Amino acid sequence: MILEVKNLKKSFGNTEVLKDISFSMEKGDVLSIIGSSGSGKTTLLRCLNFLETPDEGVIKVNEETLFDPALSSSMSEKEIRNKRLHFGLVFQSFNLFPQYTALENVCLAPSLLAKENPSMDVSGLSDLAMGLLEQMGLSAKADNYPHELSGGQQQRVAIARALALNPDILCFDEPTSALDPELTGEVLRVIRELADKNTTMIIVTHEMSFARDVSDRAIFMDGGVIVEEGPSKQVIDDPKMERTKQFLSYYK
Ligand SMILES: Nc1ncnc2c1ncn2[C@@H]1O[C@H](COP(=O)(O)OP(=O)(O)OP(=O)(O)O)[C@@H](O)[C@H]1O
Ligand SMILES: [Mg+2]
Repeated sequence: MILEVKNLKKSFGNTEVLKDISFSMEKGDVLSIIGSSGSGKTTLLRCLNFLETPDEGVIKVNEETLFDPALSSSMSEKEIRNKRLHFGLVFQSFNLFPQYTALENVCLAPSLLAKENPSMDVSGLSDLAMGLLEQMGLSAKADNYPHELSGGQQQRVAIARALALNPDILCFDEPTSALDPELTGEVLRVIRELADKNTTMIIVTHEMSFARDVSDRAIFMDGGVIVEEGPSKQVIDDPKMERTKQFLSYYK
């Protein structure tokens, strides 16, 4: 099992946003998370990426416990940064560093990490980064700044940047919802290629047909709980729960 999440809970003030989330993934799995606005999808990804601290629950990657409440109070910033490396996160709004070129955006995190860990070999870093940009169809844009790129190109740089740290699990939070349909297609294409290469991925998306075709499994969240989980074709084409049927009816 590459990821195991058990009884994860998170509140903001009096609002219980994640009520009791448990799921697991095998290496190479692609998992889609669907659900209405406010159901807790982003909060779940942020907890996995240590951008939020869960209140309760356990997160294990490759059998290693990354988080349980007893650990959280004693984690140093450096430990948290190291735990974060198990996950890559691609945001809806790309979040590239505007002052750096595409290539520099991809190289930045690994080179900062190498400063902290002198044993890390970064001699091949720019080749690695160029290779990733090429994989994203962006060889010609390596020296361009974000403002010189389309939204779809920026998002593909963001995917290359997340891959540069070689995460165990790559997470996407609505990667195409800021893009028009034409640019959406080019981003979905590279995510599909990553799935074909058995990249372990969690994809929060409103693109239902993409979720059904690309992911092995799907989770439907509502009100901070997992209402339904199963093979993506079953959950999306033939949901069992009334709430899932109701949600999906908006997409038909
Ligand atoms: N930092 C925060 N402080 C207080 N409340 C928050 C915070 N982050 C999220 N919330 C609340 O948690 C709930 C779940 O938010 P979340 O962003 O996880 O939903 P989502 O499923 O990603 O929604 P969307 O589809 O709109 O992106 C919402 O009610 C939101 O207002
Ligand atoms: Mg969200």
